Amino acid sequence: MNILFIGDIVGRPGRELIRKGLRALVEHHAVDLTIANAENAAAGFGVTKDIGDALLDWGVDVMTSGNHIWDKKEVLPYIAGEPRLLRPANYPAGVPGRGSYVAHTGDGRAVGVINVMGRVFMLNIDDPFTAVLAEIDALRHKTRVIVVDFHAEATSEKIAMGWHLDGKATLVVGTHTHVQTADDRILPNGTAYITDAGMTGPHDAIIGMEREAALARFLNGMPARLEPATANPRLNGVLVSADEATGRATSMTRLSYSEHDLAALASRTGAPLAAAESRISSPERRTR
Ligand SMILES: [Fe+2]
Ligand SMILES: [Fe+2]
Repeated sequence: MNILFIGDIVGRPGRELIRKGLRALVEHHAVDLTIANAENAAAGFGVTKDIGDALLDWGVDVMTSGNHIWDKKEVLPYIAGEPRLLRPANYPAGVPGRGSYVAHTGDGRAVGVINVMGRVFMLNIDDPFTAVLAEIDALRHKTRVIVVDFHAEATSEKIAMGWHLDGKATLVVGTHTHVQTADDRILPNGTAYITDAGMTGPHDAIIGMEREAALARFLNGMPARLEPATANPRLNGVLVSADEATGRATSMTRLSYSEHDLAALASRTGAPLAAAESRISSPERRTR
Protein backbone atom coordinates (compact mmCIF):
# COMPACT_ATOMS: atom_id res chain seq x y z
CA MET A 1 0.00 0.00 0.00
CA ASN A 2 1.30 3.43 -0.94
CA ILE A 3 0.64 6.35 1.39
CA LEU A 4 1.31 9.96 0.45
CA PHE A 5 1.82 12.47 3.26
CA ILE A 6 1.85 16.14 2.28
CA GLY A 7 3.57 18.74 4.50
CA ASP A 8 1.78 21.84 5.82
CA ILE A 9 -0.31 23.44 3.06
CA VAL A 10 0.16 27.22 3.25
CA GLY A 11 -2.50 29.56 1.87
CA ARG A 12 -3.76 29.77 -1.66
CA PRO A 13 -0.40 28.97 -3.30
CA GLY A 14 -0.28 25.71 -1.33
CA ARG A 15 -3.90 24.88 -2.11
CA GLU A 16 -3.38 25.52 -5.81
CA LEU A 17 -0.56 22.95 -5.88
CA ILE A 18 -2.99 20.41 -4.42
CA ARG A 19 -5.76 21.36 -6.86
CA LYS A 20 -3.53 21.23 -9.91
CA GLY A 21 -1.12 18.48 -8.96
CA LEU A 22 -2.55 15.99 -6.50
CA ARG A 23 -4.43 13.78 -8.97
CA ALA A 24 -1.36 13.48 -11.20
CA LEU A 25 0.82 12.71 -8.19
CA VAL A 26 -1.59 10.04 -6.99
CA GLU A 27 -1.69 8.45 -10.43
CA HIS A 28 2.07 8.66 -10.99
CA HIS A 29 3.00 7.08 -7.65
CA ALA A 30 -0.02 4.70 -7.46
CA VAL A 31 -1.01 6.32 -4.16
CA ASP A 32 -3.70 4.50 -2.19
CA LEU A 33 -4.26 7.09 0.51
CA THR A 34 -3.37 10.78 0.88
CA ILE A 35 -2.91 12.61 4.17
CA ALA A 36 -2.10 16.33 4.32
CA ASN A 37 -1.42 18.76 7.13
CA ALA A 38 -3.94 21.59 6.66
CA GLU A 39 -3.21 23.83 9.68
CA ASN A 40 -2.06 26.75 7.50
CA ALA A 41 -4.38 26.22 4.53
CA ALA A 42 -6.47 29.37 5.14
CA ALA A 43 -4.17 32.31 4.45
CA GLY A 44 -1.45 30.70 6.54
CA PHE A 45 -3.56 30.55 9.68
CA GLY A 46 -6.02 27.72 10.29
CA VAL A 47 -8.56 26.07 8.05
CA THR A 48 -12.20 26.76 7.19
CA LYS A 49 -15.03 24.47 6.06
CA ASP A 50 -14.85 25.76 2.47
CA ILE A 51 -11.13 25.10 2.29
CA GLY A 52 -11.23 21.76 4.09
CA ASP A 53 -14.07 20.55 1.86
CA ALA A 54 -12.14 21.66 -1.24
CA LEU A 55 -9.00 19.77 -0.15
CA LEU A 56 -11.12 16.66 0.41
CA ASP A 57 -12.74 17.11 -3.04
CA TRP A 58 -9.31 17.38 -4.67
CA GLY A 59 -8.19 14.04 -3.29
CA VAL A 60 -6.93 14.53 0.26
CA ASP A 61 -8.35 11.66 2.36
CA VAL A 62 -7.41 12.87 5.85
CA MET A 63 -6.31 16.30 7.12
CA THR A 64 -4.04 16.67 10.12
CA SER A 65 -3.18 19.94 11.86
CA GLY A 66 -1.35 21.47 14.82
CA ASN A 67 -1.03 24.67 16.81
CA HIS A 68 -2.79 26.76 14.11
CA ILE A 69 -5.94 24.62 14.04
CA TRP A 70 -7.99 27.11 16.09
CA ASP A 71 -6.94 30.28 14.21
CA LYS A 72 -10.21 30.56 12.28
CA LYS A 73 -13.22 30.53 14.61
CA GLU A 74 -15.40 28.78 12.05
CA VAL A 75 -13.28 25.66 12.44
CA LEU A 76 -15.12 24.83 15.68
CA PRO A 77 -18.40 23.65 14.10
CA TYR A 78 -16.46 22.20 11.15
CA ILE A 79 -14.11 20.02 13.19
CA ALA A 80 -17.00 18.87 15.37
CA GLY A 81 -18.75 17.39 12.31
CA GLU A 82 -15.84 16.40 10.05
CA PRO A 83 -13.95 13.35 11.35
CA ARG A 84 -11.43 13.59 8.49
CA LEU A 85 -10.02 16.80 10.02
CA LEU A 86 -7.82 15.99 13.02
CA ARG A 87 -6.40 18.16 15.79
CA PRO A 88 -3.58 16.95 18.05
CA ALA A 89 -4.84 14.10 20.24
CA ASN A 90 -3.00 15.43 23.30
CA TYR A 91 -5.11 18.57 23.74
CA PRO A 92 -6.82 18.33 27.13
CA ALA A 93 -10.02 16.29 27.46
CA GLY A 94 -13.11 18.18 26.31
CA VAL A 95 -11.44 20.10 23.46
CA PRO A 96 -13.55 19.90 20.24
CA GLY A 97 -12.54 17.52 17.48
CA ARG A 98 -10.64 14.24 17.41
CA GLY A 99 -7.00 13.21 17.30
CA SER A 100 -7.32 10.08 15.20
CA TYR A 101 -9.27 8.61 12.31
CA VAL A 102 -9.44 5.30 10.46
CA ALA A 103 -9.46 6.01 6.73
CA HIS A 104 -10.04 3.50 3.94
CA THR A 105 -8.37 3.20 0.57
CA GLY A 106 -10.52 3.02 -2.56
CA ASP A 107 -10.51 -0.79 -2.26
CA GLY A 108 -11.40 -0.79 1.43
CA ARG A 109 -8.08 -1.25 3.25
CA ALA A 110 -7.88 0.57 6.57
CA VAL A 111 -5.23 3.11 7.54
CA GLY A 112 -5.13 4.66 11.00
CA VAL A 113 -4.09 8.31 11.19
CA ILE A 114 -3.05 9.96 14.47
CA ASN A 115 -2.08 13.58 15.11
CA VAL A 116 -0.10 14.61 18.20
CA MET A 117 1.77 17.80 19.08
CA GLY A 118 5.11 18.36 20.80
CA ARG A 119 5.65 20.46 23.93
CA VAL A 120 9.23 21.71 23.53
CA PHE A 121 9.01 25.44 22.61
CA MET A 122 5.27 24.91 22.14
CA LEU A 123 2.05 24.91 24.17
CA ASN A 124 2.35 22.83 27.33
CA ILE A 125 -0.52 20.45 26.62
CA ASP A 126 -0.82 16.78 27.63
CA ASP A 127 2.09 14.38 27.16
CA PRO A 128 2.19 13.36 23.47
CA PHE A 129 4.29 10.25 24.16
CA THR A 130 1.60 8.77 26.42
CA ALA A 131 -1.31 10.04 24.34
CA VAL A 132 0.01 8.52 21.11
CA LEU A 133 0.30 5.04 22.69
CA ALA A 134 -3.31 5.24 23.85
CA GLU A 135 -4.41 6.24 20.33
CA ILE A 136 -2.40 3.41 18.76
CA ASP A 137 -3.95 0.91 21.19
CA ALA A 138 -7.41 2.16 20.26
CA LEU A 139 -6.75 1.73 16.50
CA ARG A 140 -4.70 -1.45 16.61
CA HIS A 141 -7.63 -3.88 16.31
CA LYS A 142 -8.81 -2.09 13.15
CA THR A 143 -5.53 -1.90 11.21
CA ARG A 144 -1.79 -2.58 11.35
CA VAL A 145 -1.07 0.46 9.17
CA ILE A 146 -0.82 3.57 11.34
CA VAL A 147 0.50 7.01 10.38
CA VAL A 148 1.43 9.51 13.10
CA ASP A 149 1.81 13.22 12.28
CA PHE A 150 3.97 14.60 15.12
CA HIS A 151 3.56 18.35 14.93
CA ALA A 152 6.54 19.69 16.83
CA GLU A 153 9.33 22.24 16.85
CA ALA A 154 12.37 20.52 18.36
CA THR A 155 14.25 17.96 16.30
CA SER A 156 15.18 16.10 19.50
CA GLU A 157 11.56 15.67 20.56
CA LYS A 158 10.61 14.50 17.07
CA ILE A 159 13.45 11.99 16.78
CA ALA A 160 12.56 10.72 20.26
CA MET A 161 8.99 10.13 19.04
CA GLY A 162 10.34 8.19 16.05
CA TRP A 163 12.24 5.79 18.32
CA HIS A 164 9.35 5.68 20.82
CA LEU A 165 7.08 4.37 18.06
CA ASP A 166 9.53 2.17 16.14
CA GLY A 167 7.62 -1.03 15.46
CA LYS A 168 4.34 0.52 16.63
CA ALA A 169 3.60 2.86 13.69
CA THR A 170 4.12 2.55 9.95
CA LEU A 171 5.15 6.19 9.55
CA VAL A 172 6.09 8.88 12.05
CA VAL A 173 6.23 12.13 10.11
CA GLY A 174 7.14 15.48 11.59
CA THR A 175 5.37 18.70 10.61
CA HIS A 176 5.30 22.35 11.80
CA THR A 177 8.79 23.64 10.93
CA HIS A 178 7.91 23.94 7.20
CA VAL A 179 11.46 22.88 6.29
CA GLN A 180 11.93 19.42 4.81
CA THR A 181 14.67 17.45 6.54
CA ALA A 182 17.00 14.96 4.84
CA ASP A 183 16.88 12.33 7.60
CA ASP A 184 14.19 10.09 6.12
CA ARG A 185 14.85 6.48 7.05
CA ILE A 186 13.22 3.24 8.04
CA LEU A 187 14.00 2.45 11.67
CA PRO A 188 15.04 -1.11 12.64
CA ASN A 189 11.55 -2.32 13.58
CA GLY A 190 9.92 -1.05 10.39
CA THR A 191 8.77 2.50 11.17
CA ALA A 192 9.43 5.06 8.44
CA TYR A 193 10.59 8.32 10.01
CA ILE A 194 11.33 11.88 8.93
CA THR A 195 11.81 14.89 11.22
CA ASP A 196 9.84 17.19 8.91
CA ALA A 197 7.93 16.57 5.69
CA GLY A 198 8.37 20.22 4.70
CA MET A 199 5.86 22.75 3.44
CA THR A 200 3.45 22.89 0.51
CA GLY A 201 3.39 26.54 -0.37
CA PRO A 202 5.60 29.45 -1.38
CA HIS A 203 9.31 28.78 -0.83
CA ASP A 204 10.75 32.20 -1.75
CA ALA A 205 9.47 33.22 1.65
CA ILE A 206 10.13 32.79 5.35
CA ILE A 207 8.41 29.49 6.17
CA GLY A 208 5.62 30.47 3.76
CA MET A 209 5.15 34.12 4.78
CA GLU A 210 6.09 37.30 2.90
CA ARG A 211 9.74 37.97 3.57
CA GLU A 212 9.54 41.68 4.33
CA ALA A 213 7.25 41.45 7.36
CA ALA A 214 8.76 38.19 8.63
CA LEU A 215 12.29 39.57 8.37
CA ALA A 216 11.28 42.86 10.01
CA ARG A 217 10.24 40.97 13.16
CA PHE A 218 13.83 39.79 13.49
CA LEU A 219 15.35 43.15 12.57
CA ASN A 220 13.38 45.35 14.94
CA GLY A 221 11.53 43.01 17.31
CA MET A 222 8.22 44.74 16.61
CA PRO A 223 5.01 42.91 15.71
CA ALA A 224 4.21 42.76 12.01
CA ARG A 225 1.22 41.31 10.20
CA LEU A 226 2.23 38.16 8.33
CA GLU A 227 0.69 37.33 4.96
CA PRO A 228 1.37 34.24 2.88
CA ALA A 229 3.91 34.79 0.13
CA THR A 230 3.31 33.66 -3.44
CA ALA A 231 6.67 33.03 -5.13
CA ASN A 232 8.16 29.63 -5.91
CA PRO A 233 5.39 27.34 -4.72
CA ARG A 234 6.53 23.77 -4.03
CA LEU A 235 4.72 20.67 -2.82
CA ASN A 236 6.70 18.83 -0.15
CA GLY A 237 5.92 15.49 1.39
CA VAL A 238 6.85 11.84 1.68
CA LEU A 239 5.71 8.68 0.00
CA VAL A 240 5.75 5.47 2.03
CA SER A 241 5.04 1.92 0.95
CA ALA A 242 3.71 -0.36 3.68
CA ASP A 243 3.15 -4.04 4.15
CA GLU A 244 -0.38 -4.06 5.46
CA ALA A 245 -0.09 -7.53 7.02
CA THR A 246 2.66 -6.39 9.38
CA GLY A 247 2.25 -2.60 9.35
CA ARG A 248 5.94 -2.23 8.51
CA ALA A 249 7.15 0.38 6.03
CA THR A 250 9.02 -1.14 3.10
CA SER A 251 10.20 2.05 1.39
CA MET A 252 10.20 5.78 1.89
CA THR A 253 10.81 8.62 -0.56
CA ARG A 254 11.02 12.35 0.06
CA LEU A 255 9.07 14.44 -2.44
CA SER A 256 9.56 18.06 -3.44
CA TYR A 257 7.74 19.19 -6.58
CA SER A 258 7.68 22.65 -8.13
CA GLU A 259 4.54 23.91 -9.83
CA HIS A 260 6.26 23.21 -13.14
CA ASP A 261 7.14 19.62 -12.13
CA LEU A 262 3.51 18.99 -11.21
CA ALA A 263 2.22 20.48 -14.47
CA ALA A 264 4.60 18.21 -16.40
CA LEU A 265 3.40 15.21 -14.40
CA ALA A 266 -0.23 16.17 -15.05
CA SER A 267 0.36 16.40 -18.78
CA ARG A 268 2.11 12.99 -18.78
CA THR A 269 -0.51 11.19 -16.71
CA GLY A 270 -3.49 12.98 -18.28
CA ALA A 271 -4.97 13.32 -14.79
CA PRO A 272 -7.88 15.76 -14.80
CA LEU A 273 -7.40 19.11 -13.11
CA ALA A 274 -9.69 19.61 -10.11
CA ALA A 275 -12.26 22.39 -10.35
CA ALA A 276 -11.13 25.86 -9.36
CA GLU A 277 -11.94 26.94 -5.86
CA SER A 278 -14.59 29.43 -6.96
CA ARG A 279 -16.88 28.67 -4.02
CA ILE A 280 -14.27 29.56 -1.41
CA SER A 281 -15.07 32.88 0.18
CA SER A 282 -11.90 34.93 0.27
CA PRO A 283 -10.18 33.67 3.45
CA GLU A 284 -7.02 35.54 2.49
CA ARG A 285 -8.43 38.63 4.16
CA ARG A 286 -9.44 36.94 7.36
CA THR A 287 -6.13 36.44 9.11
CA ARG A 288 -6.11 36.82 12.87
FE1 LIG B 1 2.47 24.75 9.82
FE1 LIG C 1 2.42 24.46 13.34
